[in-house]
Amino acid sequence: MNFLQTNKKDKLYFIETWGCQMNEEDSEKLSGMLISMGYSSCENRNDADIIIFNTCCVRENAELKVHGNLGQLKGLKKSKKDLIIAVCGCMMQQKGIPQEISKKYPFVDIIFGTHNLHKFPEYLNRVLMNDERILEIEAGSDEIIEGLTIDRKSSLKAFVTIMYGCDNFCTYCIVPQVRGREKSRKSEDIINEIRELAKDGYKEITLLGQNVNSYGKGLEEDIDFPKLLKKVNEVDGIERIRYMTSHPKDFSDDLIEVMKNCDKVCSQLHLPVQSGSNRILRVMNRHYKKEEYLDKIKKIKSLIPDLAITTDIIVGFPGETEEDFEETLDLVREVRYDSAFMFLYSNRKFTGADMMPNQIPDEVKHKRFNRLVETVNQICAEINKTYEGKIVKVLVEGNSKNDETKLSGRTDNGKLVNFIGDKNSIGKIVDVKITNPKSFSLEGEQI
Ligand code: 5AD
Ligand code: SF4
Repeated sequence: MNFLQTNKKDKLYFIETWGCQMNEEDSEKLSGMLISMGYSSCENRNDADIIIFNTCCVRENAELKVHGNLGQLKGLKKSKKDLIIAVCGCMMQQKGIPQEISKKYPFVDIIFGTHNLHKFPEYLNRVLMNDERILEIEAGSDEIIEGLTIDRKSSLKAFVTIMYGCDNFCTYCIVPQVRGREKSRKSEDIINEIRELAKDGYKEITLLGQNVNSYGKGLEEDIDFPKLLKKVNEVDGIERIRYMTSHPKDFSDDLIEVMKNCDKVCSQLHLPVQSGSNRILRVMNRHYKKEEYLDKIKKIKSLIPDLAITTDIIVGFPGETEEDFEETLDLVREVRYDSAFMFLYSNRKFTGADMMPNQIPDEVKHKRFNRLVETVNQICAEINKTYEGKIVKVLVEGNSKNDETKLSGRTDNGKLVNFIGDKNSIGKIVDVKITNPKSFSLEGEQI
């Protein structure tokens, strides 16, 4: 797609992204648009001519960060009159929030949402030419905008969104309201994008969706997620395929079979459980019982060796008793997750849980949270310990962040490995012997 060139070769942009991989990918699209318009990125927002905040609203914390950061821009805008400030992302899709942001921070020039992200170049041109303020939010539509230029952060690993939105309405979650109903991209568009990525040297693809298991619903072609995975597996040049997120209620035997049989699909499963208590799962509207979840885990573990399992857990959902929480701890001990994203329940307006009685006091939530973190971390360290002396295949991504003399990459099942090795291996899959497993990463030597 072509955008108006603004002849601003020397102009710089800075994008701050909060939230999930979907937001990361949206920011890469914004970045692609800005580069097409002649802008370059910069590391420090004080140097930028355009600052974009791509926001998240899944938890209150994320929103507070946006407010804090916007407050800090007031002075910068005063000293730099031509600075353009834009705010976009999920938070802007919430009722009343864009108006609130516009009023509270009158120095913000452009406010737009997730459904009209592709119109950003038009908004920017309008601001540059007419000096107007823009606040435009669109409701979700069935249309999917294809062909946007994406300026990806990595040249080795790429996120590819396969579907947008969510139809599940878990009672704690605001995503269905801000990202809209589920809609899937045509498999042809997805495969073409992945073929292009392979041609550009990308080795690893992560297929993204709020609930990838419902991929294909509403499309005219005969396709579902397992079939799509098979097609991606056939793309030459791609060596590793990951995906997230799966909903346990839709996680099928077909998918397990495809994971087992497709050599490029990694031995990694992110299966958010949220709680180990059937009572809480029911009020969360999750549509599965703990026993069903555990059965699926048992089955996939028995069929896929070296499988790493990760999850999301919410602590302190309204009405969660000590017994409910103990059940979550028991489930964690039974599954033995390789790692977990753990969250304090955060009350979100307009969700099913917002008005629920028995909201849990912060102090109780924090205490339970700390116990959960301790349990998860201990298991994670124990699992990592079993890697001592093992030889693992690592896709080498670059220098280690903490120690420039070492290289860094991930195993097939997603473990971070920092190791002594040959710098020419960057971009390749190499064998590494693990010499020192740590709690959250592995250390080793290339062999
Ligand atoms: N409070 C806490 N955590 C939440 N999540 C989603 N909504 C909330 C909320 N209101 C978590 C869930 C989800 C992950 C992406 O964020 O665990 O899987
Ligand atoms: Fe939110 Fe549930 Fe949809 Fe995930 S499946 S995005 S938690 S509503």
